[in-house]
Amino acid sequence: MHKNQTLGEFIIENQSSFPYSSGELSSLLNALRLAAKVVNHEVNKAGLVDLFGNSGDINIQGESQQKLDIFANEIFIQALVNREIVCGIVSEENDEFIAINGSDKRHSSKYVVLMDPLDGSSNIDVNVSVGTIFSIYRRISPVGTPVTQEDFLQAGNNQVAAGYVIYGTSTMLVFTTGDGVNGFTLNPALGTFYLSHANIKFPEEGNIYSVNEGNYSNFPQGVKDYIKYCQKIEENRPYASRYIGSMVSDVHRNMIKGGIYMYPSSFPYPEGKLRLLYECNPIAFIVEQAGGKATDGKQRILDLKPNDIHQRRPFFCGNTEMVNKLENFIAKY
Ligand code: AHG
Ligand code: MN
Ligand code: MN
Repeated sequence: MHKNQTLGEFIIENQSSFPYSSGELSSLLNALRLAAKVVNHEVNKAGLVDLFGNSGDINIQGESQQKLDIFANEIFIQALVNREIVCGIVSEENDEFIAINGSDKRHSSKYVVLMDPLDGSSNIDVNVSVGTIFSIYRRISPVGTPVTQEDFLQAGNNQVAAGYVIYGTSTMLVFTTGDGVNGFTLNPALGTFYLSHANIKFPEEGNIYSVNEGNYSNFPQGVKDYIKYCQKIEENRPYASRYIGSMVSDVHRNMIKGGIYMYPSSFPYPEGKLRLLYECNPIAFIVEQAGGKATDGKQRILDLKPNDIHQRRPFFCGNTEMVNKLENFIAKY
């Protein structure tokens, strides 16, 4: 690392430490970086849509206006497809996985990407931060053959890289290739990401808990007990309650300030709301790389063997000690 290092420089300098470094993963990260900038530009002017009088379905160019999560989906897919650097994509916005047939490099890529193109999208209308989450694996099926469902249904342990973009007060790209977590902040005037948060680690102690407490009465008893524990006046408690409703932002804050994020099973989500493959797994990888812990309440998230590309899972992550404490409460029932 050196002063004012850009994301592009960081990727080049660290390529040899990337798993299986062939340059392909670097190109893939570069494509995601580009898409993040395009989505950032659009997210930033979201509030202007009404100002220009385009509140209907048709905008000035006569194109039908898209919801930002659909827009983000298309931008990320386009960036990956155009550069022919992945053989397949799973997205929250697409029911089926997307198989990419490259022009001359047919099925030749060895990576698949799974993503939530816009996380927390209900926050867009009220100018609250949203994010993008991505997860990268090496395919299981042989290079040169069409991508298969099995290429996507891998345990989180197999991830070669994962990251998120947070479109917040400033825009950041945070990612890991299994060698720590690094955060880059976008300088909007230059359109360049600079390394601003090198080797992010959870602080020793956390004192924030983040959960949608409106669902409290439907939480499992162990989770209810843990929330009461967080609120108890004892030692360094009560903890502060902070919940944005954008997981990326909630986890990002907790990773920097210290805290626990929870999305338990509750009505109407018996398996929790968050998706294992493109929400829980990438965040779990990052959280562990930052010295924290991620669990479904009983098992380590990264050990779970998925059976459906859109499956949900209860999700808890944060400072290791806090997550351990929560697991102890859950284990009582
Ligand atoms: P998405 O916008 O991709 O559907 O995901 C939103 C997720 C997550 O970001 C957030 O923490 C959670 O849903 C909020 O759910 P509740 O409104 O139920 O708290
Ligand atoms: Mn989401
Ligand atoms: Mn989404």
